[in-house]
Amino acid sequence: MHLRKIIEIKNLKGKRILVRVDFNVPVEKGKIKNDFKIIKSLPTINYLLDKGASVILVSHLGRPNGVVDQSLSLRPIAKVLSSFLNKEVKLKSLKELQQKPSNEKIVLLENIRFFPGEEKNDIAFTKELSKLAEIFVSECFAVAHRSSASVTGLAKYLPTYAGLLMAEEVEGIERAVSKPKKPLVVILGGIKTETKIPVLKNFLTKADYILVGGGIASTYFAGKGYGLGVSLLDKDYVGLMKRLGVNKKVIMPVDAVVGQINGAGARLVSLAKPLKLAKNEGIFDVGPATVRLFASYIKKARTLVWNGAMGKFEQHPYEYGTYSLARLFAARSKGKSFGVAGGGETVEILEKLKVAGDVDLVSTGGGAMLEYLSGKILPGVKILKKN
Ligand code: 3PG
Repeated sequence: MHLRKIIEIKNLKGKRILVRVDFNVPVEKGKIKNDFKIIKSLPTINYLLDKGASVILVSHLGRPNGVVDQSLSLRPIAKVLSSFLNKEVKLKSLKELQQKPSNEKIVLLENIRFFPGEEKNDIAFTKELSKLAEIFVSECFAVAHRSSASVTGLAKYLPTYAGLLMAEEVEGIERAVSKPKKPLVVILGGIKTETKIPVLKNFLTKADYILVGGGIASTYFAGKGYGLGVSLLDKDYVGLMKRLGVNKKVIMPVDAVVGQINGAGARLVSLAKPLKLAKNEGIFDVGPATVRLFASYIKKARTLVWNGAMGKFEQHPYEYGTYSLARLFAARSKGKSFGVAGGGETVEILEKLKVAGDVDLVSTGGGAMLEYLSGKILPGVKILKKN
């Protein structure tokens, strides 16, 4: 897929550019808990500023549903950005920008989802927004699965280009999905089975192996009649996972770490025979035999895609399976294999283990990446495609 990119814009000097970013980051009591998405957008911001353009940053935070909610203000983000860029980034309301075009080189517009027109992709609202700038730059892969005014709508009214990160993410995922070097091995975990099943189905034709853990694997074992206690699984998909799970390409765990949710009574069990866990116990990690089995596929891979933890990695002693696979995944990436990872918890794990830098592409997208991997064309990417 060829995208229109910012490097194609001939003369940026003095141009007003609206840059849609995704600064939807975890904020607690005014403190940003993870700045990964913000940091990843800096090269595009700096590129535009260095070329003499002035930048209006637009983002959403949370889901305020079209009403002003001060707890979802972008103020903490403006502060962090100012320190990253070493210049003040003022937070502006839409009204302020409409009344008087700012002469600042860079400003941040307050949470765009405070306006009902954003998620409704309202035409009048989009037109108003478009008047703020001469060019629209989309740097928001993580929200490219939403058809919102500032994600897709603006493309109707302004010349539209992909930012550096957007292009990197689309090209990286395309490389893994459309023309992967074989074997292509996909590692799928996490808890929201309904979002993982379309990915699994799409890769059944494309991938050589799909290594499955987390809630999606528990859903499969529930279908086989295992007594799984409080394991995180999705009852609605038990039948479907039972059918999909027997495909030769799908590799299920062979052992698991089970116990209480707080780690009490943790022990290793084989999954060869049906389990009968106590009511307060569940499967919370894959075991060492599974790590060995999955490693044998990862070692052969020339393309690797990973989304989702193998278990409840936040709770000791349920972290070892996920962490072992994360390290194997990172070690096989950059060189031997082209490695793509994404999703909030997956990024968190790679960062925690300090191996994110060893992976070819760590996507900022959670839901967006999953939709892309399930074969959908994202509306926020479609608008950037060259004819
Ligand atoms: C994300 O964090 O996944 C994106 O910012 C999208 O957020 P949303 O699911 O609220 O649209």
